[in-house]
Amino acid sequence: MIPQSCKIEQFFGQWESSVTYVACASDVDSYRMRDLLDLADPEALALWEGLELGYTDPAGHPLLREAIAGQYTRTEADHVTVCGGGAVEALFLVTNALLGPGDHAVVVWPAFEGLHRVIPALGAGFTTVRLDADHGWRLDLDAVRAAFRATTRALFVNFPHNPTGALPSRADFEALIALAAEAGVTVVSDEVYRYLEFEPGTTLPAASDLGDHTVSIGVLSKAYALAGLRVGWMATRDKALTRAARGIKDYTTVCASAPSEILALIALRAREQLVARSRRIILDNLVLADAFVRRHPGALAWEPPRATPMGFPKLLLPVPVEDFVRDLALEQGVLLLPDSVFDLDDQRFRIGLGRTVLPEALERLDDHLARRYRS
Ligand SMILES: Cc1ncc(COP(=O)(O)O)c(C=O)c1O
Repeated sequence: MIPQSCKIEQFFGQWESSVTYVACASDVDSYRMRDLLDLADPEALALWEGLELGYTDPAGHPLLREAIAGQYTRTEADHVTVCGGGAVEALFLVTNALLGPGDHAVVVWPAFEGLHRVIPALGAGFTTVRLDADHGWRLDLDAVRAAFRATTRALFVNFPHNPTGALPSRADFEALIALAAEAGVTVVSDEVYRYLEFEPGTTLPAASDLGDHTVSIGVLSKAYALAGLRVGWMATRDKALTRAARGIKDYTTVCASAPSEILALIALRAREQLVARSRRIILDNLVLADAFVRRHPGALAWEPPRATPMGFPKLLLPVPVEDFVRDLALEQGVLLLPDSVFDLDDQRFRIGLGRTVLPEALERLDDHLARRYRS
């Protein structure tokens, strides 16, 4: 099984080390080890100091699974499988467990590659349902229903959404889960940006709490700013899905790294502090990015994001977005992510709101627009 190559990883591989400002990242400035250890409670600190560096429980450390389950209402520790390869591994396991030759899936579009590139490699096919850019990145539920076939096994969704920052209403999200349940389709809900909503009270319920054939994917990379731990998880009350995914995990990572598990436990127990820091960085940058887009109405337009460390503006200049991104990287050392990475051709690029260098990157972008386009 060889999936099509991952465009986003190739793009970052090509550019990341040669630019000064990565202004399109999906994560937040990383938290430091010593600052994280300062947040440890006595139990977690004792676990850290006495840690034996052997194999760990393949399902995940029981205390870590309990802490993850603490984010859910009806999903328990037994329903959680910790993945030592991040959310990417969780998506890989779930996709492999759910789909085989001749099966069909529906993918809300655009989508992070981990949600769809593996599907064709398994001999399955998929139909995309596009978010509507002209109506606040709305998801058309009727279009999702119409995309279901007799062979549809899975619906892949990701809210809050990469790359648009879209966030549906709670009513729409619940209706989406209900229509999949009616059709007998398992919902794979990528919730890695959960808790990074801008408006208080807009956090969606977790899919795993809303149905028996739903799986929530989570990770410590985004809201917790701890991508280097590579700790992700899948949470589902579907026992057969858990069993199948764990069976596949015996051939991927087997178990998570022992130090990462304890650091993840510390982070989850200190969720409020870590998430508040990430939100602060993102919301400060959001104000600047929104003002920037408004200051350049001839060059840029966007539907402001409602969540996540990113937005997805449209380039209005008469230059292909790929060329614009390349010139900006070469001339100003600022990296944006063109929409071709998302298999789109819509003159958009992803801008990241999670890095504290964004103000300097915006200054460079301003300079670039003025020099090259008199915008
Ligand atoms: C929607 C989505 N899901 C999953 C992931 C994977 O996260 P990780 O690389 O930490 O496993 C990402 C990372 O950008 C993402 O944007």
